[in-house]
Amino acid sequence: MPVEHVLERTRQNTLKRRLTALSLAGFGVGVIIGTGIFTLVGVEAKEHAGPAVVVSFVIAGLVASLAALCYAELASSVPTAGSAYTYAFATLGELFAWIIGWDLLLEFALGAAVVSRSWSGYVANLLHLPAGWFGEEATVNVGAIFIIAVLTVVAVAGIRESSRLTNALVVIKVSVCVLIVVAGLFFVRGANLQPFVPPAQPAESSASVVDQPLIQAVAGLEQSVYGFGGVLTAAAVVFFAYTGFEALANLGEETRDPKRDLPRGLLGSLAVCTVLYVAVALILSAVVDYRKIDVGAPIAAAFQDVGAPWVGALVGLGAVTGLTSVMMVELVTLGRIGFAMSRDGLLPRRFSEVHPKWRTPHRMTIAIALVIMVLAGFVPIAELADMVSIGALSGFLIVALAVPVLRRRNPGLQRPFRMPLSPVLPLVTAAACLYLMVNLDVFTWLRFGVWLLLGLAIYFGYGRRHSVLAGRTEKGTGLKETP
Ligand code: ALA
Repeated sequence: MPVEHVLERTRQNTLKRRLTALSLAGFGVGVIIGTGIFTLVGVEAKEHAGPAVVVSFVIAGLVASLAALCYAELASSVPTAGSAYTYAFATLGELFAWIIGWDLLLEFALGAAVVSRSWSGYVANLLHLPAGWFGEEATVNVGAIFIIAVLTVVAVAGIRESSRLTNALVVIKVSVCVLIVVAGLFFVRGANLQPFVPPAQPAESSASVVDQPLIQAVAGLEQSVYGFGGVLTAAAVVFFAYTGFEALANLGEETRDPKRDLPRGLLGSLAVCTVLYVAVALILSAVVDYRKIDVGAPIAAAFQDVGAPWVGALVGLGAVTGLTSVMMVELVTLGRIGFAMSRDGLLPRRFSEVHPKWRTPHRMTIAIALVIMVLAGFVPIAELADMVSIGALSGFLIVALAVPVLRRRNPGLQRPFRMPLSPVLPLVTAAACLYLMVNLDVFTWLRFGVWLLLGLAIYFGYGRRHSVLAGRTEKGTGLKETP
C-alpha cells in the first residue's frame, strides 16, 4: 500500500485530536515504568548479571533509544493509529504488516495480563488480602480480572479521561523512583558492588536446554550464568522494562500536532525512564548484596532489610499506581492497533466502528480486554514476560528496516524528524534488536513461533480474503507529496 493511501485514510479519521507533547510524554512514562523496574531488576541482578544489571539497563536503553529514533521518523511522517503495523503496510507489504500487528497484539495483551497479575499481588500485600484470590497461586485471580475490567471502562470512556488518569498516576510513580534513589543514597555500601561483573559460572544442573539463551544453544556452549554473557541475557530480559514507548506512535491520529509532538513525546519519555532506571538499578545493587535480593518485591524488601520499612511501604504504593498506568496505556493502545487492522479488513470490520458519543474504538477495546481477563484470571503467566520482549524486539526490527525502505520509495515525503545516518543507523538498530532476541531462551522462541504460525493461519484463512486494500489500485491517490 503506498504511503499516500495511508495518509488519505487518516484524513478520514474519526478519532479526536486532543493530545499535546506533554500529555504524550505522560502516556509514555505511564506505560514504560512498571514491572520491569519494580520486579525484573531484582530477578536479573540475582540470577544473571549481579550489580552489572546496571550495564544491562544501559544496553537495553540504548537499543530502545535507537528504535525510538526510527519510530520518531516514521510516526512524524506517517502519523496513524496503526503505527508500526501501518508503516510496515506502507513499506514492506500486507503480510509483514499483519505479522507486526499480530506481534504488537501479543506484546500489549500479554504485557497487560502479566502486569495485572503483579498488580494484584502488590495490592494483596499492601491490604493483606487473601493470596488464594489475589496471588500467583490463585485458581482464579480475581484482582487481575477486576483491575482490567475497571480500566477497560475508562479506556472506552475516552482518550482525554485515559490521559488524565495516566498523568496523575505518572506523577506518583516518578516521585517514588526519585524517593528510591534519594533514600537509597543513605544506605549505600560500596562492598555490595564488588565484584561488579560476577565471574561466569555453570548454570544449575537442573536447568534444561530450553532455558538456555538461543545463541548459547545454537553455538553448543555450556549453559552458564553471570559474566558478560549474563549481562547480555539480563539486557534482553530487562528490555521488557522499556517496552511500551511505541504505544505513543499509535496516538498519531489523536495528537494535535503529530509532526512536532510525536518525536518529542517519544524521545522525551524514553530519556526520562532510562535515567531513572539506571539510577534505581545502581542504588538497588549498592544497598543490597545481589545474592540476597528478594525476587518478589526487590526494592521494597531491600529497604525493609536496611531498617527503613516506611520507604518499603511507599515503594509498594508506587508499584501499585505505576502498574495501573501501564495497563491503562496498554489497553488504549490495543484498541488502536486492532482498530487499524480491522479498518483495513484484516480483522472483522465491525471492530473498527467508533462509538458515536465517546469516539473510541470501543468494540475492539472490549473484545481484547475480555481475552486479557481470561489470560490474567486463569493462566500463571509470570514466565511469559520474555514473550513481551521478543514481541517488541521483532516489531522494532521491522520498523528499523522500514525507515530506509520508505526513504527510497518516497524520497519526497515530508519528514519533520529524520533518523540520523540512515541507512547505517537503522541497520545497526535492526541488528541490535536481533542480537538481544537471540539472547532470550529457547522456550521463548518456541512459543513465539507458535504465536506466529497461529497468526499466519488467521491471515491466510481470513485477512487476505477480506483485505480492503487487496482490491484497490496501487496507483497514487492524487495527494501531493511535500518536498
Ligand atoms: N515497560 C513496562 C513494564 O516494565 C511493560 O512494566
